[in-house]
Amino acid sequence: MEAILLVGGQGTRLRPLTISTPKPMLPVAGFPCTSHQIALAASAGIDRIVLGTSYRAEVFEEYFSGQDLGVEIRYAVESEPLGTGGAIRNAAEQLTCGPDDPVVIFNGDVLTGLDISDLVSKWREARADVALYLTRVEDPRAYGLVPTDAAGRVLEFKEKPTTPEEIVTDQINAGCYVFKRSVIDRIPAGQVVSVERETFPELLSTGATVIGVVDDGYWLDLGTPLAFAQGSADLVRGIAPSPLLAGRTGDAVIHDSAVVHDTAIVSGGTYVGAHVVIGENAIVDASVIYDGVTIGSGARVVRSIVSTNASIGSQSSITDTVIAENASLGAHNELNFGARVFPGAEISDSAIRFSSDR
Ligand code: GDD
Ligand code: MG
Repeated sequence: MEAILLVGGQGTRLRPLTISTPKPMLPVAGFPCTSHQIALAASAGIDRIVLGTSYRAEVFEEYFSGQDLGVEIRYAVESEPLGTGGAIRNAAEQLTCGPDDPVVIFNGDVLTGLDISDLVSKWREARADVALYLTRVEDPRAYGLVPTDAAGRVLEFKEKPTTPEEIVTDQINAGCYVFKRSVIDRIPAGQVVSVERETFPELLSTGATVIGVVDDGYWLDLGTPLAFAQGSADLVRGIAPSPLLAGRTGDAVIHDSAVVHDTAIVSGGTYVGAHVVIGENAIVDASVIYDGVTIGSGARVVRSIVSTNASIGSQSSITDTVIAENASLGAHNELNFGARVFPGAEISDSAIRFSSDR
């Protein structure tokens, strides 16, 4: 079985982490989201995956080349982003399956333990053109709303509703589909198409069989820094399933080469990368600490992302904060609530006491 992974978005909401690394390649619990997805796909019997890339396409090829992932990887690079539908159409040029075969499609920033084989079976049983994986969320406004009838037929597709009247369901598009190959081939080639705003509504208006399959298992869109830290912590604690972490989950995953002082507390699903140094009495909770980071004594890091080779000075405290690569935060600083420090920035000792609710 073949799959397409959509990994060409800009990851704007995760800036500045996505300046150098595309969102699907940012490590969550030590592996890029794309690796977790490839492993999930492989475990469902998918043996060939086309990555639809655009933004920073080279990063994917550099990372995956020469790795034995148990699946064949192909790249479909868009010189200008073609949108989700255009990207699917472009990637389909490299599929080898027949017109009636199923093709599994994934958004590249979705963390899930979805039973892909079950979604394919439901698609087959319903003789559907498209089967969509749906999940339920409390606040659906940031997603694509997908109401279904009692038999599971999709009634409407409403991407990112703006008025209260448009919020007709708590079922949302969870970012994984099974398409009949011939349906993909009907998407216009070489132009920008949104699968959510154009292809799905068009399929419904032409009477195609589009079914929704609600699955209440683990699901998270890694679109924002808070969600990103949460997803990593969930993987580390085994709340989010991934074949890559099987047997290694716990309160923290710490790379063998990291040096953590005996008195430091590292918990809440924190991931600590290679060559990290964590000082005396530091507290690191529910955070993502990339390779080469230094965290000083008495520092406090909560629900934050500290990127490669950055440093946090002693007695500094950061909560819900992103520190980009090579940035250095001096001692006795305090950053909260969505603060973002850009790559290479240097903040001196006792310079910032930042609190904002934005
Ligand atoms: N190749 C390529 N080209 N990929 C793209 C492009 C493009 O032009 N635009 C977006 N993508 C990829 C992104 O990298 C991401 O993996 C995926 O398509 C979805 O884009 P996002 O930017 O993350 O969309 P979203 O999170 O706002 O909404 C989408 O996902 C939700 C679930 O997570 C929609 O599909 C919603 O309907 C859905 O509910
Ligand atoms: Mg997304």
